[in-house]
Amino acid sequence: MQIIKKIDELRTIINQWRKDGLTVGLVPTMGYLHEGHKSLIDRAVEENDRVVVSDFVNPTQFGPNEDFESYPRDINADAALCEAAGASLIFNPEADEMYDGALTFVDMNKITKVLCGKTRPIHFSGVCTVVSKLFNIVTPDRAYFGQKDAQQLCVIKKMVKDLNFGIEIVGCPIIREADGLAKSSRNTYLSSEERKAALCLSRSLNIGKDMINSGETSAAAVVGRIKEEIEKESLAKIDYVEMVDLNQLESLETIQKPLLCAMAVYIGKTRLIDNFIME
Ligand code: PAF
Repeated sequence: MQIIKKIDELRTIINQWRKDGLTVGLVPTMGYLHEGHKSLIDRAVEENDRVVVSDFVNPTQFGPNEDFESYPRDINADAALCEAAGASLIFNPEADEMYDGALTFVDMNKITKVLCGKTRPIHFSGVCTVVSKLFNIVTPDRAYFGQKDAQQLCVIKKMVKDLNFGIEIVGCPIIREADGLAKSSRNTYLSSEERKAALCLSRSLNIGKDMINSGETSAAAVVGRIKEEIEKESLAKIDYVEMVDLNQLESLETIQKPLLCAMAVYIGKTRLIDNFIME
């Protein structure tokens, strides 16, 4: 698997692909790839002639007390997964290559200030900035993002529309372990006891989904029951559980589709997110 570290080198390769009339898909990642990422790469390989996987732990989206330094990294394992999935190359720049002397950042109002944005105030500015840079460097036809980061997907779609990127954003379903835990690179932080406790996220979401499917119309009742289920777990501490409309991410009083029910929960020191969407 070809691992490209320099922007100019990547641009030369992509220019040649373009001259050859090939389409390009981009899968932006922070590496430590798992089945969730693989599902994005598989879809990108199906729909494009060439696929770039970016593998970059982006410092600008981590707050001062977050896990930038300890975030898991394994470029050799990532290369093996990308090779097996049929990606064309990995873009794995150093932070200096991406940000040396940078004074320009991309920011967004409103939908970045709710849900995860409440406790991670700089996070989405970092995400918008790095994704804009990747879009400008790779100039993909399509880019692939997981629905596990539902707010991120909503933010990226809005950014692409607002800044006229002309790139198709493809959202892909959450991939779960057999017992329901959503796949995440951060699951590796969990001890075996915490790993069991983490099942309260998907379990409580299923309870919420069932309530709506059985006709519950009060968002507060569903959110209340989900929180109650999580609070039974002594290792869990809720950051937020919210029911919002899928497009504006505004709080719902009455259940109305399309909706997003999203949560962030600490299991020990590890902050996990999960959600369900009803279209
Ligand atoms: O979802 C992620 O892994 C990151 O937020 C992304 C989109 C690769 C930007 O760094």
